[in-house]
Formats: sequence, structure tokens, C-alpha cells
Amino acid sequence: MHNAAFKNLGLDGFYEARDISPESLAQAVKDLRRETVLGANVSVPHKLAVMPLLDELSEEAKAVGAVNTVVKRHGALLGHNTDAKGYARALEQAAFDLQGKRAVLLGAGGAARAVAYALLRGGSSLQIYNRTPQKAHALATDFARYGEVNVLTDAFKSAIKNCHLLVNTTSVGMEVAGHDPDLSPLPDGLLPAHALVSDIVYKPAKTRLLRDAEAKGLSTQNGLPMLVYQGAESFKLWTGQAPDADVMFRAAQQVLEN
Ligand code: ATR
Repeated sequence: MHNAAFKNLGLDGFYEARDISPESLAQAVKDLRRETVLGANVSVPHKLAVMPLLDELSEEAKAVGAVNTVVKRHGALLGHNTDAKGYARALEQAAFDLQGKRAVLLGAGGAARAVAYALLRGGSSLQIYNRTPQKAHALATDFARYGEVNVLTDAFKSAIKNCHLLVNTTSVGMEVAGHDPDLSPLPDGLLPAHALVSDIVYKPAKTRLLRDAEAKGLSTQNGLPMLVYQGAESFKLWTGQAPDADVMFRAAQQVLEN
């Protein structure tokens, strides 16, 4: 999708994927300092480990507690996080206004932190449910300064039924080795009464959760818009130019469909 954006804007640049082991992360960052690059994306499992290797962190990267984008400017490496803005733009695309809404967040891992930040900054309240409750409590404590955030325990069912937005950030339903793509993070039969059901998973395009929600007539959104918009925000930081997100979306979709 980045190469499609470069081409579309007529910019002489390219984006390449590098497979970096945890042991070689420090060297990979040193290489960025030496090479002629605009910056980099940082993906799982390096989003936290990269932070102390950089020269400066943006407010969002500090707040989310993770870096997904590195920008090289005047020789310095700056760490940003565009996942939160990417998710906020995905909700805008779905015409969902967060102000005053009740959101339920499933999961409390790295991706959940970016989503939680976007939701609270957008003005919704947040109820978090995670398999390991300690992690949900840690997230709630870290984000309490941004708005109303609670951990769900006993009131799980009624919170799901009555929310305006349900977001899955767990890896349940993902099509990767070791995961069953036919599982939902919700117990059978439990869904919101009226809500946007959002899954940050984009492979498969329709997780079991989204299929169940659609069958009940609820509106749904998968993880592709978030992926594309976080990429578009990174691209803008690197080049100073806003790419056409539709061009990036089509490029990403084409690869995923093949
Ligand atoms: P990411 O950075 O992509 O968010 P992560 O930090 O490993 O990845 O987080 C994965 C999330 O999926 C966690 O909330 C995890 O729950 P735990 O904190 O209990 O591990 C959740 N998760 C993964 N597999 C799960 C499963 N089978 N059932 C429920 N939750 C699961």
C-alpha cells in the first residue's frame, strides 16, 4: 500500500519489508541512522523494545506506550504512534461519532492500548474485558487520566448488550498458525443489541464475530481501515504529503485477497 501511494503521488521512493529478530533490533535501528531513509514502521514484537533506541518520542507514542512509526529528521530518529489516529479515522469512515458513547474493548494487549487511547480521546467511555484481568486493570489505571474507564467483570453481559461500540483487539478469530479462525471472543449468543461491531483483525476479512454481528443485523467494520489509515498517517509523517487512502486501501485489499 505504501508503494502504491508513492507511485500515485509520483514520488521517487519505495517501501520494503525487513524481517528483524529481537536480537538484531538494535542493529536494525543503527542501520536506519546510516542509510538514506525517510523512516520505518515497527511491528510486532518490536513496538516497545524500539522505544529506548530512538532519540525522541511523540506525545502519542508516550501515551499509547508503543512506537509503530519511526521518522528520520535531521539525522535524529523520532518515534511516533499512528495506530491510535488510524483507528480514529477508521471510525470516522464508518460515520461513528465517539462523543458520549459507551465502548466495550475486548483485549488488553498492545493493540488495545492504541484503540483505548483513540476511544477515550474521542470522548467515549470505556469498559475493558480481558482473559487475564490483571492486564485489563493495568490498562485501565494507565488510561484513567484520559476519561472514564472501567474493567468488566460481573456486568460483562449487560455491558455488551448495552454498548454503542464493541471492539475486538484480541487475536481470537485471526487466520494465523495456532489460531482457530472460527472462534469468536464472545460467548455463543451474546452480542450488543444495537452497536457498531469492530474487529481489528483483517485476515480473515470477516471474523466469526463480524459474521455473527452481521447475521444479527448490526453494522460491522474489520481491521483493514485501521491498517490503511495508520499507514496513511505514517506516510504523511515520512513524506510531508497526504496520500490517497483509497489508493492504499485498494492495494492492501488486493494483496489480502490473493
Ligand atoms: P497485540 O499487540 O496484537 O495486542 P498481545 O499484546 O499479545 O498482541 O495481546 C493479545 C490479546 O489477545 C490479549 O488481550 C490476550 O489476552 P491475555 O492478556 O489474557 O493473554 C488476547 N488473547 C489472545 N488469545 C486469546 C484467547 N484464546 N482468548 C481470549 N483472549 C485472547
